[in-house]
Amino acid sequence: MCGVVGYVGPRKVVGVILEGLRRLEYRGYDSAGMAVHDGFSIRVEKVVGKVSDLASRVEGINLDGTLGVGHTRWATHGGVTGENAHPHRDQDGRFVLVHNGIVENYLDIRDQLESRGVSFYSQTDSEVVVKLLSQIYDGDMLRSLTELGRRLEGSYALVILSKDDPGGFYCVRKGSPLVLGLTEGEGFCASDVPPLLPYTKDVIYLEEGDIAEVRPGSVRIWDKDGRPVERPVHRIDWDVSMAEKDGYPHYMAKEIHEQGTVLRSTLKGRLSESGVDLGDDVHWDGDFLRSLRRINLVACGTSYYACLVAERVLERWTSLDVKVDIASEYRYRDVKIGADTLAVFVSQSGETADTLAAQRKVRSLGGRCLGITNVRGSTLAREVHDLLLLKAGPEIGVAATKTFMGQLGALYLLALKLGWERGDLNPVEASRLAYGLLKLPYEVERVLERDGDVKAAAERFCGYDDFLFLGRGFSYPIALEGALKLKEISYVHAEAYAAGEMKHGPIALLEPNVPVMVVIPKDGLYEKTLSNVQEARARKSPIVAVASDGDDLIDQMADWVIRIPRCEECFSPFISVIPLQQFAYHVAQLRGCEIDQPRNLAKSVTVE
Ligand code: F6R
Repeated sequence: MCGVVGYVGPRKVVGVILEGLRRLEYRGYDSAGMAVHDGFSIRVEKVVGKVSDLASRVEGINLDGTLGVGHTRWATHGGVTGENAHPHRDQDGRFVLVHNGIVENYLDIRDQLESRGVSFYSQTDSEVVVKLLSQIYDGDMLRSLTELGRRLEGSYALVILSKDDPGGFYCVRKGSPLVLGLTEGEGFCASDVPPLLPYTKDVIYLEEGDIAEVRPGSVRIWDKDGRPVERPVHRIDWDVSMAEKDGYPHYMAKEIHEQGTVLRSTLKGRLSESGVDLGDDVHWDGDFLRSLRRINLVACGTSYYACLVAERVLERWTSLDVKVDIASEYRYRDVKIGADTLAVFVSQSGETADTLAAQRKVRSLGGRCLGITNVRGSTLAREVHDLLLLKAGPEIGVAATKTFMGQLGALYLLALKLGWERGDLNPVEASRLAYGLLKLPYEVERVLERDGDVKAAAERFCGYDDFLFLGRGFSYPIALEGALKLKEISYVHAEAYAAGEMKHGPIALLEPNVPVMVVIPKDGLYEKTLSNVQEARARKSPIVAVASDGDDLIDQMADWVIRIPRCEECFSPFISVIPLQQFAYHVAQLRGCEIDQPRNLAKSVTVE
């Protein structure tokens, strides 16, 4: 939610900021803005719209300067207006800042400031922050920022320019991510790594409460109390091409296509036919594994659906009592956490506010937390006891695809490790399953090649405005994920149900204008799902089936069949999710939707 960037160095800052914002636009795209320090004063330009609109705005303007900040917004406080867009400035024009996060006590602060005669031009919490800084400032920036941090409640990543200091910028971080980039003679910061990739792979993740001063080629960092601190420099193993479209029309198309490679990378070095090694960031011993009785899986959105798949495989491969919950619910429930419980938090970004809050709750109850994320420096990665990285490379399309594949891979590794090392699976069976998992990246690549068939289905069905998705067992979470993909990028209404639930209500919706997309691989529940298909057919709903090669029966029941290769039941989610992602992608394209940046969404949901 919102992306911030900052730069100081020899380059013209406008180009650096625009390029950085383009690489962060997945975080929000309601409005965009930048501020440039020309050595004497700070000029602010902002627009309602996207980064491309900001680029057009600044094109004809002579914005000379080599120090600046930028922002791309996902509105929280205040509507999408030019006034509410960032950067924000104080009344004297001394400070300009960009902000990602939410300041919870901003109304109290605003009241106090108003009573002292300060006026406001926007509805944002961010304008309150810059005006508070202006009031606090006593000539010493470090002391003033330390005091600012004491007064603010909530989350913030702030990047601040001071008119009196044309040599660098300041950062303050609490609750929202901020990464610094280091190179000779230059200084960068951003909400995430992609804007830094063209310039450097050496980054510093600021920690809770940190304050930083960034000057060309140098960085100084203090903790929340103003004491100097050293933070480790991390070498990023992503390269710049990973964050580019590589000839694909959309990031989503590229990311769908990468899924075989992603799965291979998630499994690499961690799995063989003789065991699972989750690596140095997971610190469990045999006693801990054997003492476990319960496992709680917690996440939001697509990550939650990956957990629903994992629930099924954990139940099959281990003797653990498995619970899955949506983070925004779990954090407020009276959950019971014991020494025999492992809590697993799944978040591709590692920044989802509800997931982080749920994790903190478990920690406060003394529970053991495993984080599964794609972002090494993310808040989740830094807060959990144990960490499993997806290694999927940056995902830029707002709709999650390849990270879902990585999450499935990581969760299956977890399930296999637990089953194997606790003795729930016999070693021969465990080894057989490991082999099955190792083969999956090739199977995934085979399915990806069938994109043309899915496109033809999308051409036939893209005109419908309502869909019902059905699946049972391992296919139920995949039906949920398929419906989510379709609604979020093509704005087509799509609901998903466990196929057995259809006759308990949703069947009332069925008619010739409501196609039923059924995920029905040849598995142990095939016949059961087939009866539901017949029920839907009897209500004259067009049937689109995602079905196994060689299943002739389905041809007689369905109006359209999308074929997938046969595979063992427990591995089917890796395969069956692909045509559903492709279907959503093609429908969105045929309906002329903005695929990589669907309306109202943002990739990283850092607010509750
Ligand atoms: C859907 C999607 C969202 C995310 C959800 C959780 O395509 O991307 O539903 O899955 O916002 O995000 P993370 O995984 O970053 O916690």
